Amino acid sequence: MQLSSLQHALLERIQQQGAITFEEYMRMALYEPGAGYYVTGQAKMGWEGDYYTSTDIADFFAHCMGRQLQQMWESLGKPAHFGVLEQGAGRGDLAKEVQQWASTAAPEFHAALDYRLADITFGQDALSIRTDDFIPSVILSNELVDAFPVHIVEKQDEALHEVYVTIQNGRLAETLQPLEDGPLLAYFERFHIPWQTFPSGWRAEVNLDAITWMERTSQLLLGPNPKRKRRGFIIAIDYGDSARELYSTERYRGTLASYYQHQFSERPLARPGEQDITAHVNFTALLDAGRQQGLRLHKYTTQRKWLMETGIYEELEQVHQQHFGIIDQNRASDQGQVALLQWYNLRQRVSALTDPRGMGDFKVLILKR
Ligand SMILES: C[S@@+](CC[C@H](N)C(=O)[O-])C[C@H]1O[C@@H](n2cnc3c(N)ncnc32)[C@H](O)[C@@H]1O
Repeated sequence: MQLSSLQHALLERIQQQGAITFEEYMRMALYEPGAGYYVTGQAKMGWEGDYYTSTDIADFFAHCMGRQLQQMWESLGKPAHFGVLEQGAGRGDLAKEVQQWASTAAPEFHAALDYRLADITFGQDALSIRTDDFIPSVILSNELVDAFPVHIVEKQDEALHEVYVTIQNGRLAETLQPLEDGPLLAYFERFHIPWQTFPSGWRAEVNLDAITWMERTSQLLLGPNPKRKRRGFIIAIDYGDSARELYSTERYRGTLASYYQHQFSERPLARPGEQDITAHVNFTALLDAGRQQGLRLHKYTTQRKWLMETGIYEELEQVHQQHFGIIDQNRASDQGQVALLQWYNLRQRVSALTDPRGMGDFKVLILKR
């Protein structure tokens, strides 16, 4: 079997240092310079890649985001300069479509909007980002936090253990080590998770970077002067749940998932650097970390409800009236039939975004100051 350079690096590291935590493994698999999944810059998003996001599915998502940003701009008193920073922006499709929408639907807002992008593919790590002269009023991200490396714990013999990665028969393999007193145990205490009552074999992921990210992102928004904190919003959209929902017996084996060419896989140790690895986000942790920095909860809801509140169905109805009148007037004609198919397609995309069993169950967290 031909080993990739990343597999070599991992094997070498484990041979030298002994087993590494799953978190270290995931960090290398996703972020190792020159080899990690997110830094090698190949096309992974969209239909030809490993995953697709709300942004890929429909412009409606971007238009809802546009209306959301416009509302925020208004609530801040319509400043002449309105900075938006999108982290983990990927190819920038959301940004493009938001700006496109604003240019026609909200020209005054568009004139104030200064929308910037950051992505680790271009060397901007969301955990160590600096904006220097740029003052953002909104910092937003869609499916960013679920990519951060996670620790995995498993309950065995009445105690929590951490999942490590070692070598067995020349291959990467999992092993458990008892959890010592430290940040992971403190994490479960902080969020009041009654893991002692959970059955043996219970697994969960812990994303400590998510907390660091929220602390730094809040600081970026509020600015360096503690006496004159700036106003603004943080929007984080992702799959995930509150701590209570996430760390429960319902999720007996946790939420870690790998994706390779749109296929879900339960083998995160396979193909390091070539497949996406993600875990659900603990939104209680994000909210808690933001609050400690002085932010307040503005909204926590599902993507489905958020899209409805920001007018997705009104827009669909408008598009229907403007462009699909032929369906009612002359459905049997060739033109009518084509329009009907296009209309079904459009409705299908909106359904995908709002599906309560799919993307509609994503969470939208908005913090404000
Ligand atoms: C699932 S994609 C989402 C892309 C885009 N937001 C969308 O909705 O289509 C995750 C993106 O986050 C970026 N990313 C992952 N970890 C990052 C980090 N630590 N800092 C900045 N960007 C990161 C990846 O390169 C990728 O573009």
